[in-house]
Amino acid sequence: MIIAVDGPAAAGKGTLARRLAQHYRLAFLDTGALYRAAALHAIESGGDPAAPAVAEDAARRVGPGDLGNPRLREEGVAQAASVVSAIPQVRAALLRFQRDFAATPPGAVLDGRDIGTVVCPDADAKIYVTASLEARAARRFEELRRLGETVIYGRVLQDMKDRDARDSARRTAPLRPADDAIVLDTTELDAEAAFEAAVRAIEEKLAGKHHRSVR
Ligand code: C5P
Repeated sequence: MIIAVDGPAAAGKGTLARRLAQHYRLAFLDTGALYRAAALHAIESGGDPAAPAVAEDAARRVGPGDLGNPRLREEGVAQAASVVSAIPQVRAALLRFQRDFAATPPGAVLDGRDIGTVVCPDADAKIYVTASLEARAARRFEELRRLGETVIYGRVLQDMKDRDARDSARRTAPLRPADDAIVLDTTELDAEAAFEAAVRAIEEKLAGKHHRSVR
């Protein structure tokens, strides 16, 4: 079973995807961490993350050992991730790892931007998690404060807008809901309510599939 969870930054994808993985006893992959790790390799190499050759080389060096690095959560790394992720060679370099992960039994929940549209177009259930820009910026602001970073709300809001714009406008695998995705707006929902709504929608979707296949 494969569940795709996509959406913009700080919409609640990560929290939801982790809970769904636990609930359905599936593996979990935060695909944003792969792009963040590629960005961090590019930054640490001293090169320009926007240069395709630098970014591709950095993406090829990403391995499972990179995913726990606490530096991946830094805002500068997130911004650089949205720069390297617009480069088609970077996306191609990271695609195999994601597809292999999803195809490993018993299956997985993957969260990202293009899981339902590109990485796993045949996923059993696809959820597009979204929330208002202000709600997402407020969540991100709190998260950074808890990490001990000195943050200004207006700056967080602007960074969020810039990242949304880059992720949605790029030519390769732009951020958009798959045609068959369930859209879940978490602006007014806490993590528990979002989880319950997602499980209800997934159960309906799976019941519908089963129904079609036994007819
Ligand atoms: O989800 P997260 O904020 O960690 O993602 C960091 C960046 O990585 C995103 O802004 C996006 O540019 C990129 N990304 C992507 N495709 C994915 C996951 C993340 O382009 N599947």
